[in-house]
Amino acid sequence: MRKILFLFILLAVGACGLKEKEIKVPQEEVGKVAAIGEKATKKLMAELKSNLGKAIREGGMPGAIEFCAGKAQELAQKVNRELVVVRVSRVSDKYRNPKNKPDSLDMKVIRMFKEKLRKGSLPPYYVTAVERGGKLYYVYYKPIRVAPFCLQCHGNPEEMDPEVLKVLREKYPEDKALNYKAGDLRGVFKVVIPADKI
Ligand code: HEC
Repeated sequence: MRKILFLFILLAVGACGLKEKEIKVPQEEVGKVAAIGEKATKKLMAELKSNLGKAIREGGMPGAIEFCAGKAQELAQKVNRELVVVRVSRVSDKYRNPKNKPDSLDMKVIRMFKEKLRKGSLPPYYVTAVERGGKLYYVYYKPIRVAPFCLQCHGNPEEMDPEVLKVLREKYPEDKALNYKAGDLRGVFKVVIPADKI
């Protein structure tokens, strides 16, 4: 009985551990995918920047968090409605919002970016492809680095404004996105493009 149970657990772990297989993107497609990915990323970045800036001017840092907490996901949805077929999001291994949690492919790319950053050769993007439900998708990833400005909300809690920390703790009790340093890899922009659309 024990042996059978052990075998069962082994099989279950094996099945869950199955990694999504990456498909090599032909070199002539990489440029096209990267151009689409770049456009989608810029659009989301511009929305986030202008809205965050406005919120800080109007409500200071703690007020800006109130804004981010409701607005970041909403802005991504808005951009995605405008992009129609392409999906853009932000993902992080140390996520603040559980909606930005990485899948196994995201994790693999984040690890790869971190390793390259450590060696001083972080690439501007990474393009790959996966098959889901019999359909081919291109996936574009762009690294997101921490700027000194970001530390006000993602830095060392001991050096952060207590008001900011208080709001963060209320909104994100399981927050993992603290203790970053300027220059760290904060996460990635991820753009998913159905291959038959390009
Ligand atoms: C005013 C506070 C504030 C500042 C400043 C700030 N962030 Fe954030 N950040 C947040 C909040 C709040 C969230 C969670 C948003 C959500 O609920 O989707 C977040 C989420 C993120 C995410 C999505 C992944 C996750 O952890 O959920 C990334 C990536 C990110 N921030 C990067 C940055 C970078 C890079 C900067 C600097 C250019 C920055 N942030 C500046 C408050 C801030």
